[in-house]
Amino acid sequence: ADARPLAGRHVIVTAGPTHEPIDPVRYIANRSSGRQGFAIAGALAALGARVTLVAGPVVLPTPAGVDRVDVETAREMAAAVDAALPADAAVMVAAVADWHVAAADQKIKKQPSGAPPALALAENPDILATLAASPRRPALVVGFAAETEQVLAHATAKRARKGADWIVANDVSGGKGESVMGGARNSVHIVTADGVESWPDLPKEAVATRLADRIAAALTA
Ligand code: C5P
Repeated sequence: ADARPLAGRHVIVTAGPTHEPIDPVRYIANRSSGRQGFAIAGALAALGARVTLVAGPVVLPTPAGVDRVDVETAREMAAAVDAALPADAAVMVAAVADWHVAAADQKIKKQPSGAPPALALAENPDILATLAASPRRPALVVGFAAETEQVLAHATAKRARKGADWIVANDVSGGKGESVMGGARNSVHIVTADGVESWPDLPKEAVATRLADRIAAALTA
């Protein structure tokens, strides 16, 4: 078999959380470590792809052979994905914040009255949905879904709503969010137009290798 089936192909991967500033010293974030997305970027590069990894704030080494673009906010991530086009495939693994804050220019001070400040939240762009609807849409668009209940029903609905070809769903029910987000293992279901494929609980690197192989098969079919 061809050891570098993705040679000549460009794949965009998003990974990690986003940080949404509240003021110059504070931000809103989530528990994403970036591990699954970084592993996927590395596995795609190992198959010969040119990989643009758009990374939120994480503490991880750049996988071998991967071009990394660091961003902070969802809006910066959206712009970096757009700037990286065209691509043959996109794998959106980032845990993008749903909202940003109408951020203050100066550090918010405690009020003498003790009244807490109100944060005005505004919606972030949906990077996956925007890309899937774009005239420059990659041939294969893969999204992720972390669900705490009705994993397959929600992932199937998300696939249609976002216009993704595949949704990789992970079950983060019953406190599993804390072990999956930041942890070393993941158990996922691949939701496609043909149905659902459930993978066993695997190290994130193994999930990455299997997904990269599946992407290579889809792009070279
Ligand atoms: O709607 P939800 O956040 O559950 O969707 C998750 C999927 O959508 C992931 O693939 C994530 O990277 C992507 N997403 C995005 N931009 C957003 C929100 C989610 O690309 N603003």
